[in-house]
Amino acid sequence: MLELKHISYTVQEGDDKLGILNDISLTIDDHKLVVFTGPNGGGKTTLAKVIMGLVTPTSGQILWNGQDITPLSITERAKLGISYGFQQPPRFKGLTVRDLLTLASGNEKLSKDQCCQYLTKVGLCANDYLDREVDVSLSGGEVKRIEIASILARNSQFMIFDEPEAGIDLWSFTRLTETFEQIHAKGSATMVIISHQERIISLADEVIVVGDGAIRHRGSAQEILPQILADTLGSCPVLKKEANA
Ligand SMILES: Nc1ncnc2c1ncn2[C@@H]1O[C@H](COP(=O)(O)OP(=O)(O)OP(=O)(O)O)[C@@H](O)[C@H]1O
Ligand SMILES: [Mg+2]
Repeated sequence: MLELKHISYTVQEGDDKLGILNDISLTIDDHKLVVFTGPNGGGKTTLAKVIMGLVTPTSGQILWNGQDITPLSITERAKLGISYGFQQPPRFKGLTVRDLLTLASGNEKLSKDQCCQYLTKVGLCANDYLDREVDVSLSGGEVKRIEIASILARNSQFMIFDEPEAGIDLWSFTRLTETFEQIHAKGSATMVIISHQERIISLADEVIVVGDGAIRHRGSAQEILPQILADTLGSCPVLKKEANA
């Protein structure tokens, strides 16, 4: 179980302090699929980075299975079974796709068949990609899918995917949602997926709407999705409703 207790993150902007996350408390139970959604700039990625240890909160505590992991580094958190896929994945010149998957899996060697299993889950063919370098020669969608495959290879207990749909074609997106469904059905991992996509939101056990650095709403997909779909102006209807209240 992951618990966030009163997490705030402030940055200095000139003479002012800017609140990016404001007193967020949240519990995510094991084996749940939770979707964070909400308007651009609302704080979703920052919240994910706080969980992963890429951003240190100004105040508050993060507990993983009862252990206070707030002071732990990314590597230490990864060893405890938490992994994060970037919204815009970094590229690694000199590292091949096979190297990346092998490193992620923690094995000394990974057979072509094993690599193929992970790559197929994100709609890629091992024959075409295993020996490619994870550098600028890969397209945005390719690098995104390869990173997602590396998270699958890591087989973590707690996986965070930051807009996995971004830049991915429809066919691969379908494969990806099936993969999320399968992991969820197996009940072997907890997943937090940051997404704006109806297909992904509809898979969630719980949807959390993050806006202005706070949790604006949380509920089932059935409850939240109609409100999001009804919005034609592009901003979050849950927030608008609150603003008009
Ligand atoms: N270090 C920082 N300094 C200043 N502003 C920051 C910093 N980190 C994040 N922000 C701001 O905090 C807000 C939240 O950013 P974040 O990336 O978490 O949003 P998001 O919900 O993931 O948005 P999107 O849907 O566009 O990915 C944004 O306005 C961003 O510009
Ligand atoms: Mg983001």
